This record gives sequence, C-alpha cells and structure tokens, in this order.
Amino acid sequence: MGFKGLALLSDPRYIVILNLRKVLQGQSLDKALEAHASAIDPRDRALIAELSYGVCRWYGQLQAIVGDRLQKPLRNKDQDVHLLLILGAYQLMHTRTPAHAVLSTAVDLTRILHKSWASKLVNAVLRGIQRDISRHPERIQSVQQSDLMIQYAQPAWLIEAACHAWPQAYRSILETLQQRAPMTLRLNCQVESIDRYLSRLHEHKISADAHALAPNAVVLQRPMPVEQIPGFREGWVSVQDAGAQLAAHLLDVSSGQRVLDACAAPGGKTGHLLELADSLDLVATDIDEARLHRVADNLQRLQKSASMVVADVSKPLDEWFDQPFDRILLDAPCSATGVMRRHPDIRLLRRDRDIGALAQRQFDLLQSLWPCLKPGGKLLYATCSWLPEENSLCIQHFLHTQQDAHIARMPDALKLDDWGQCCEVGRQILPGEWGMDGFYYALLVKDSVDV
Ligand SMILES: C[S@@+](CC[C@H](N)C(=O)[O-])C[C@H]1O[C@@H](n2cnc3c(N)ncnc32)[C@H](O)[C@@H]1O
Repeated sequence: MGFKGLALLSDPRYIVILNLRKVLQGQSLDKALEAHASAIDPRDRALIAELSYGVCRWYGQLQAIVGDRLQKPLRNKDQDVHLLLILGAYQLMHTRTPAHAVLSTAVDLTRILHKSWASKLVNAVLRGIQRDISRHPERIQSVQQSDLMIQYAQPAWLIEAACHAWPQAYRSILETLQQRAPMTLRLNCQVESIDRYLSRLHEHKISADAHALAPNAVVLQRPMPVEQIPGFREGWVSVQDAGAQLAAHLLDVSSGQRVLDACAAPGGKTGHLLELADSLDLVATDIDEARLHRVADNLQRLQKSASMVVADVSKPLDEWFDQPFDRILLDAPCSATGVMRRHPDIRLLRRDRDIGALAQRQFDLLQSLWPCLKPGGKLLYATCSWLPEENSLCIQHFLHTQQDAHIARMPDALKLDDWGQCCEVGRQILPGEWGMDGFYYALLVKDSVDV
C-alpha cells in the first residue's frame, strides 16, 4: 500500500464506516467512537462524530435514496460499499463538502476496502444523487416523502407506536427527533444566580438564555466544548438537558434526608440532588462499576460527595430494609426514545421486542426498591422514554400490586401546572416540549404507618 493508501486508512470517512458497521452489529455509537478515540488525530474527532451521528440520524432515508439509484441491491458481504454510498449521500445532502471531494474520497475508499471493483458503481450512484439534488430535486423529494418511515428515518414499529400513543402529537415528536438538541447547562444556584451567570456568559461573548421552566437551566445558543464554558472546571455548571433537570426538583429533597439514587450513573441527577440540599446522606448505586466511576469523577468536579455502591437493585436489597430511605430516585434503564436527538443510533439499535423486556425490568426495579422506602417517603420514577408501556402503564401495574403505594402531588416549587402531558398516572414531557428531551415522571408516596 502506498502513502496515499496509508493516509486513507486514517481518513475520518473510513473510521465513520467502521463506526457505522459496529452500530449495525448492535454496538452503541458512543462506544464505537470511544474505541477509536485514542488512535484518532484530535483534529478529526469532531468531524468523525458529526458524520457518524448525522448518518445514524438519517440512515433509513439515505438508504432509500441510495436504493433509488442502485439497479440491484448490494450483497450482504458488500455492506461496507453500501455504507460508503450512504455516507457519501449524507455528505452531499447535509454538509457543505464540495461534491467533487465527496466523490473522489468515496472512490479512493473503495480501494482501502479492497473493493476496487465498486469504484465505478460508487462514482455513478453518488454522481446520480448529486445530479438529482441540483437538477431534479423532485425525484429526491418523492423518495423522501414516500412514507413516514423514510421521511423521519425511523423503524416501522416506532412510527406505529408514536401514532398509537400520541395521535395528536406524533408528527411533532418525529420531527423533533430529527433535530439536533440544544446544549443546556445546569447552574449550581448556591454558587451564583442565573442572572449573574448569564452576564458572565455575555462578557465571554457566549449567547444564552435562562430556560423558561427548569429553574437552574441555561440554554446555549450554540454548542461549545465544555472546557471553554465559564465555571465548568470549577464545578459551577454541568451539561444536562432541562427535562432531565426536573427530576431533582420533583424528588423534593431537604437537608439531612437519606436519599437513594438507585440507577445513578453517570451521575447527572446525583450531582443536582446534592446541589439542591445541603448535607444529604446520599447513596448512589449502579450495576455497572465502570459507569459508577464516572459518578465519582463528576462529583469530584462538583466538589460533592456520596456513598457509591455497585449493586443490582432489581435483586432483594435486604441490607437497606433496616435503614430505609426518605427519598428514592429510580431513573430506570429504558428505550431512550426520548433522547434520540442526542443519540440518533437508538433508532438502529432498538427493536420492538425490547420494549416488553424493558417494561418487565422496570417493574422488577420498582418492586425491589419499594421495601427500601420509609413509610411516608417518596420515590420518583423517571425514564427518558415516551412509550406508555415503560411509563404510565408500568406505574399503573405497580400501583395495582402494591397496596401502600399512591401517586403523590408533584411539588409546587416549579410552578409546574402547565408542563408536559398529564397521563393517567404521572406526567410525560414529549421530545421538543419547552425545547426539552422526552422524559416521563411519576412521584409515588408510601403510606405512613398508622399509630
Ligand atoms: C438512565 S441511566 C441513569 C442516568 C443517571 N440517573 C443520570 O442522571 O446520569 C440508567 C442506569 O441504570 C443502570 N442500571 C441498569 N440496570 C440496573 C440494575 N439492575 N441495578 C442498578 N443499576 C442498573 C445502568 O447501568 C445505567 O447507568
């Protein structure tokens, strides 16, 4: 292989194809990106992430546009060529890279993939798409709008689930999930007021606004590297979606309480709880030890502390029956359909059949944690999903089986009357409402013991 061949091996587009292949094999894009991180020139990292996320976001639609230009589908063993075409189509449609550069890199990459036979095909398909974009946009549009799956690049089961669960709002959910999410910060308001922090950002020529609903949230007009955000290194601010920030307020903690953050990693909500009330006796658990280390790192930056316990909280937790908690946060593992703006690979990773299994897991977590709650104590159930099976239906099922569990009124502190969708039980923020990710919250209270 000559010098050019070696250079292409580290070409960002080649790494993107490797990433996409891993996602199609079931690995999360974040993991795939992490795996290559150390071997990649730091200057290429942002480009690789942008292309990988972008292709995942539009994958189903790009596949249809490429398919329209292919005379016959490629064989399974030529998946890499297919991905090369999809990446090229993404660059032509969604980036400012000049068309001649997209085409020549794609053709060069066929050699690196040891698929020189495909160079003419790749050239012809991408040239055809480029011609359609500039001269026959109606051809592209008719492919894009042929059905909802292609228009919103989502699997059929998820489109059906959205139409069924949210008949009035499904279009806006699907449209929001195609957008990029804003970068939102959480300010520790014990350190500084929102107004003062906004002036500080202004002094640094960073445009931002206070969020209308979440009291500690500041929304940046443009995303930026965290190291450049004033106060980040000092631990005054963290990056957290405004919808996620509601959790700590809703749990309604006060100083001195014993609190369990049951699925804590990477610790976004743990940090917020500790910022809202002094001297909490907080235990943070997670099944994943490596992820729990990230909680520790985050708390260190915030100069806060909690006890860390690696535990599977779906198993009986006898050790806590004698020292029950005043408050429990169960931020349950879920489909993450509410945060697809930030994790567009979810549409390629999730399957219809996953949802029933997740709902069972969420129910098991509720059942095993409930005995660890003090009488009169509160448990906040949270997911970043908008699927009722994981949310209101799961909580309704739990309330039927657990006699001493009831729905509690959400605290007034946030003027929360007009947020989200009021469900049979709990509240649902749909993706995009108040600019937030999709979250579901239900606050449960345990009967006090009669004396
Ligand atoms: C939605 S994430 C939590 C996000 C976190 N609360 C935050 O705000 O940063 C769900 C977490 O649950 C953990 N988890 C999944 N099953 C668990 C189990 N059986 N016991 C404890 N943790 C579990 C996962 O490892 C994952 O870190």
